[in-house]
This record gives sequence, structure tokens and C-alpha cells, in this order.
Amino acid sequence: MDPITNNDVIVLQLDSKKSTIIIGSSILASLATLIPYKKWDVIVAIVSDTVYTLHKEVIDQSLALIDAIAIPYTDSEHNKSYAYAERYFNQLLENRCTRNSLVIAIGGGVTTDFSGYIASAYMRGVDVVYVPTTLLAMVDASIGGKVAVNIKAGKNIVGYFHQPDYIIIDIEFLQTLPRSEWRCGMSEVVKHALIGDSSTLTLLLNKEIQYGRIDNSLYNCINSSVRFKASVVEKDEFEKNIRAILNFGHTVGHAIESLLEYTVSHGDAVAAGILIESYISMKEGMPKADFDCIRDIISAYNLLPSISFDSYKIVNHMMYDKKNIKGKTRFVLLESIGKPQIGCEVNDALVKEALNFYLTMVSK
Ligand code: GLY
Repeated sequence: MDPITNNDVIVLQLDSKKSTIIIGSSILASLATLIPYKKWDVIVAIVSDTVYTLHKEVIDQSLALIDAIAIPYTDSEHNKSYAYAERYFNQLLENRCTRNSLVIAIGGGVTTDFSGYIASAYMRGVDVVYVPTTLLAMVDASIGGKVAVNIKAGKNIVGYFHQPDYIIIDIEFLQTLPRSEWRCGMSEVVKHALIGDSSTLTLLLNKEIQYGRIDNSLYNCINSSVRFKASVVEKDEFEKNIRAILNFGHTVGHAIESLLEYTVSHGDAVAAGILIESYISMKEGMPKADFDCIRDIISAYNLLPSISFDSYKIVNHMMYDKKNIKGKTRFVLLESIGKPQIGCEVNDALVKEALNFYLTMVSK
């Protein structure tokens, strides 16, 4: 296996600000040279407990070099809440953070979403740097500036677009990633591949990526997936049109997650959603060969969860989707692999047929 020696820098020129992504291996140790840390008066790092336990030495050393104060965070959807946020606002205040301070988030998507929310709201917004440590956070959650917390009524209901100044993607963190988290990230990687990230599609078709193998293929896959998402966000920062393609698999995925009361992970729900929405796409004209290819990829990476649900209730649940327009559920469908279409209306009977297809398939 060749050592990973190259770092890559991607600069996003967004309407709201410039956001720089740096991807490499073992780069957190160089944090002091990667970000202009002297420009901020106080630096506070919100660090996922899990990640801190596993990588304490490198995190402590990197934060010490930039005089950052570490605040631990027990990352869970429960703690990604509006109620829990208040204690972090207080901690920023206790540490004398001003409008010229910086929040660094080190952790998975829950930590980056939560810390991003804290940064977006504290004193009407301070700068934020992300150090995503899961595959999902690296290729998806940390890119694009969506930050949010949950309230009792639902997930990600309260939030903003608040772009990070820097995203430091150190793939060494993936050495300790649990398999379940790996699958969550892979669902988003597959999604990108199907809606236009052709380089990753080739890697996936060649079965070059494997859980636990931190090599050049994985590096290239993350690099291409990140570049793909960045290019979409750059075209449409505030999701007025094209950015909506990133919701492929999520209309059904969110309904499954919510109906099953979050007992199924986001990644598993999205993987199921991708297959179900691909089935709908096929019935609306996508070539069957493309559907078979999608099914093969998702199966090869063992992404499909064996879940059971009431198809009728899922269809009803979709009525609550944030992306609905005038009460109508809208889907992102594929004309073919790599050609997504946004805003597609689908009749309920076809959605039910696709859901039932999935149930039959996973029960075999
Ligand atoms: N996760 C979808 C987006 O960032 O737009």
C-alpha cells in the first residue's frame, strides 16, 4: 500500500464567505500552520467525548499550539438540542469569547452541527473551523454550512446557514471509526456517486474502497466526494435550486428515520431511501440496467438495513417533509445514473409499490 503523502486544498468561493477545505493524513498535528490562529482573540474547541478519548494526545498537542481551550461534548442527537446549547453559550462567555473569537468543532456530524449552531448564534455569529472525524462528517455534514439543533417537535428544526472558515479533513481519524459509522458515511458517498460524482462511482464499481483500509483509494474517494459536494454548494449556497439534488434518498430516508423514531441510523435510512427512490426513478423511466447497478453497489457495501415499516404510514409521514411545496411531496429522481432531477411529483401508489419492493427484498 502506498503511503498517503499528498494534502489537497479546495477553496470554496461562497456568497457569504470563503471557505477552505484541507484534506490529508495526520494533518491535525499541523493545525497551527493550517489556520491563521493568531487572528482570533480566544479559541474554544468543542470536542466530542468519544473522539477525545481515542485521540487525546494529538488533540491536546494540536490545541496547545494554538492556545485553544477544549470543552468536551457528549455527542448524541439528544444533546444536539436547543436546550443543551445554552450551557455552551455560557461556557463561551465564561471563557471571555467575543465576536472575534473562534469555535473549533472536533467530532462527527452531531458535533459539527451543534458547534456550528453555537458559533452561528453566539454574539450573532463567530467564526468556526471544523475537524470532522467520521466519514459522514467529512464528505457531507461539515461541508455547506448547514448548522442546526433539535427541538422536541423534530430534528434540525432550528438552524442557519453559517459557513466554516476552514474544514480540516484528517483521514487518520477513520482508523478508529466503528463499522456502523462507516456505513453511514458510505451511504452519502454512494449518493454523491449516483447524482454526479463520476470519479467516486468508478472507485465504487471497482470495489476499491474497504472498511478499515485507510489507503489512497479511500483518500481519492473522500477527495472526490468532498469536491463534488463543494461544487454543488458553490453553485447554490442557500439551496434555492440545484443544491436540492443532495436530498436524493432523503425524502424516503427521513420518513423512515422519523417513523421508526430514530431507532434506525440516518445512514441506514438513507441507504434504504436511495434504493427506494431509485426504484421509483426506474418506474419513471431510468434504465433498468442503472437500477441493477445501484442495487449491486448498495449490496456490495452491505448498506441495506433489514428494517420493517408500514408503507402506508411512511407515505403519510412524507407530508411533513421540510422540502414539500404546497403540501405535495417532492422527490429527487434519477433520469439515469449521474442525472438527477429535482422537484418530481410521484403518485402515492408508486411510492407504496417501491416501499413494498424494499420490504420484500430485505425479508428474503
Ligand atoms: N446534506 C445536504 C446538504 O448539505 O445540502
